[in-house]
Amino acid sequence: NEIYLQGLAGQTPPMTTDLAALEEAAAAVLTPEAFGYIAGGAGTGATMRANRDAFERWKIVPRMLTDATDRDLTTTLFGAEIPAPVLLAPIGVQSIVHPEAELATARAATGLGVPMVLSSAASHTIEQVAAASGAGTRWFQLYWPSDPDVCASILARARKAGFTALVVTLDTWTLAWRPRDLDRAYLPFIRNEGTAIAMSDPAFRARLQKPPEEDEATAILHWIDLFTGTDHGWGQLPLLRELWDGPILLKGIQHADDARRAVDAGMDGIVVSNHGGRQVDGALGALEALPGIAQAVGDQAEVLFDSGVRTGADMVKALALGAKAVLLGRPYVYGLALGGEAGVRHVVRSLLAELELTLGLAGHRTPAELSPSVLRRG
Ligand code: FNR
Repeated sequence: NEIYLQGLAGQTPPMTTDLAALEEAAAAVLTPEAFGYIAGGAGTGATMRANRDAFERWKIVPRMLTDATDRDLTTTLFGAEIPAPVLLAPIGVQSIVHPEAELATARAATGLGVPMVLSSAASHTIEQVAAASGAGTRWFQLYWPSDPDVCASILARARKAGFTALVVTLDTWTLAWRPRDLDRAYLPFIRNEGTAIAMSDPAFRARLQKPPEEDEATAILHWIDLFTGTDHGWGQLPLLRELWDGPILLKGIQHADDARRAVDAGMDGIVVSNHGGRQVDGALGALEALPGIAQAVGDQAEVLFDSGVRTGADMVKALALGAKAVLLGRPYVYGLALGGEAGVRHVVRSLLAELELTLGLAGHRTPAELSPSVLRRG
């Protein structure tokens, strides 16, 4: 309504509302390296395409005369109400697209009441992002470091800074073959865009002979050693439980058996995700994995979803196939590139509006009314 009313006064929106056009717009303002890093995926890009194909395969079957005029997207996750079943996915190294990086993202999220998930590979520290997030809901994403003292220290800082839930990303214990970045020898962590949390950590610094300010190269090598190459195994999950007294979710689950193991290990939730097609080339579209996982988990844990969500209709489909909420990835980063905090705000608000309209026009009032029966495959 706001956009149409402004249109009556001769004013058009600050940025495109065609969410499919965002990527192209962002490409025009970013360096080829930064754009390639964000838009790119593993190998041939087959998994990224599979993510989109999976959404295209499911169709919404709208119902009429259901009186869906009064919609309510409010969702409860781990006892806390959020205004819509939407969160901002953990995305590292945001300073490659905008100098305010996660600080701008945090402010936009808080303004809209949408929870943000802060990446372990952020460009700003835990404490800086917490200050920018203020009264907002914030979760922390962990790349699980091999050093238990550093792990404990980072998690203690996150708890103290008001991060309520922990998202443990399992699919990136090492980086995949990503030709776009390899061809440019582009790894933003090496350019120190994603190491702020570790470099500011007392336990991490205690492991170094010289502080990172004096010997950055050695610190970065230590960072790489800490965050890559270790697979902790299912048996280590109780350690995280000892270090975190809030909800824990496992991100990167794509097999129903792994989802069951997560439940058996006492996890509070999972994020069905293939990291936006950035890790295993030739993997199945994330949405294809969702129904079976949702069925395997039932109501024993919260099932969240990401990878390929681009529109309100996509969100309706993921919610119908069993996700309690979805995480937005690349689209909000394109908003950040195009307009900092205001850009993130524009993209997320547009997606929320499109979700609400699509839900209503399909004949439903709440996300809870959605089930696989509102879709048809084919
Ligand atoms: C990511 N993602 C990610 N995930 C995570 O757990 N920690 C991280 O630091 C990052 N960093 C990151 C950087 C960039 C540039 C991208 C595009 C993605 C994965 C992210 O959380 C999410 O799973 C995907 O972005 C979802 O796919 P779409 O919707 O972006 O295609």
